[in-house]
Amino acid sequence: MATVKYGVIGAGSIAQFRHVPEIYNNPNAELVAIVDINKDRCNMVCEKYDAKPYYDYKKMLAEEKLDAVVVATPNYLHAQQTIDSLKAGCHVLVEKPMATTRADAKKMIATAKQKRKYLMIGMNQRLMAPHVKAKEILETGKLGKVLSFETTFKHGGPDGWSQDGAASWFFIKNKAVMGVTGDLGVHKADLMRYLLGEEFVEVTGFIGTLDKVNDKGKIINIDDNAYISMKSKSGTLGTMTISWTNYGNMEDNGTTLYCENGVMLISRCKEFGVKVLYKNGQSEFYKVGKVATNTEQVGSGVSEMFTDCIINRKKPSIDGMEGYRAIDIIISAMESAKTGKAKKISQR
Ligand SMILES: NC(=O)c1ccc[n+]([C@@H]2O[C@H](COP(=O)([O-])OP(=O)(O)OC[C@H]3O[C@@H](n4cnc5c(N)ncnc54)[C@H](O)[C@@H]3O)[C@@H](O)[C@H]2O)c1
Repeated sequence: MATVKYGVIGAGSIAQFRHVPEIYNNPNAELVAIVDINKDRCNMVCEKYDAKPYYDYKKMLAEEKLDAVVVATPNYLHAQQTIDSLKAGCHVLVEKPMATTRADAKKMIATAKQKRKYLMIGMNQRLMAPHVKAKEILETGKLGKVLSFETTFKHGGPDGWSQDGAASWFFIKNKAVMGVTGDLGVHKADLMRYLLGEEFVEVTGFIGTLDKVNDKGKIINIDDNAYISMKSKSGTLGTMTISWTNYGNMEDNGTTLYCENGVMLISRCKEFGVKVLYKNGQSEFYKVGKVATNTEQVGSGVSEMFTDCIINRKKPSIDGMEGYRAIDIIISAMESAKTGKAKKISQR
């Protein structure tokens, strides 16, 4: 295969800021078509990137000979559009959260297996430079076991990001299904599994809607803040705090790991992406670039990785099962918040 021929479903912000330009600029990829139900938006993006516009993804799948599809639509559409694209013979890169239920995620994984196509999930946090460096340091064993952690992901909300602002699907319960939990929590669930290199076995969630309003000035009926306590298989304890109400242009996407031999601060200071403070008084500061924020985009590396996997026939490391485990943590936290009890996560 000389180049990977792509179709992109959804011409919203993630497509415009990341997938479309990243595919367009990749010499190993070819952007063939883009689909969006918003015709003006679709035409505008297609014109800019020289792609064919479609307003119905099934028509694109029927008419174009594609190798791969990127699914970048509201959460409730991910499962069906992914399954249809796999059945049409395409590899699929689907945005996070991969699905809104465990059952749908399992169907997506089974379809990919049955059709012998790759399924990758756009959980890009692990590819960001500070997180790559953190993983590398953890793997040297210098810091010993991670005893506990705090990870945060907070900003002013997707109304400042989505193409539809405060009228966005992000604030509509039956389209988003999960609020800040599905938006930022899934990212952090994936990142912490990745950094620790093990599974979480129990979570407790306090999840609520504190302040966010939609375009009509009405409080949204989906979560905008969550405090989630997590316990790993080996006993590491940690908290994830995520928010859509960090107003005042204060984005926070950082992690602190408290380890046997010291502390690692990831994306906690502007100058150094990673700082390590050892118990013996030594320290290491790494200038390794930034974690992307809504206002400061850095290349995600996601579609490059997917393209490389397709060309070189290697299974993506961020596959369907990785996506499943991330939503399993978040759905378990939501179940805990409902029942008021800690939720055990069974190992599959
Ligand atoms: N990986 C990341 O860092 C990251 C960041 C932001 C968003 N996302 C994910 O990307 C997905 C899209 O989010 P966004 O920020 O681009 O939202 P957005 O609101 O900016 O765009 C969504 C687009 O989907 C289109 N759409 C709706 N129904 C459609 C349909 N049936 N067929 C085709 N297009 C349809 C809308 O018209 C809109 O243009 C979400 O699942 C979100 O969670 C991922």
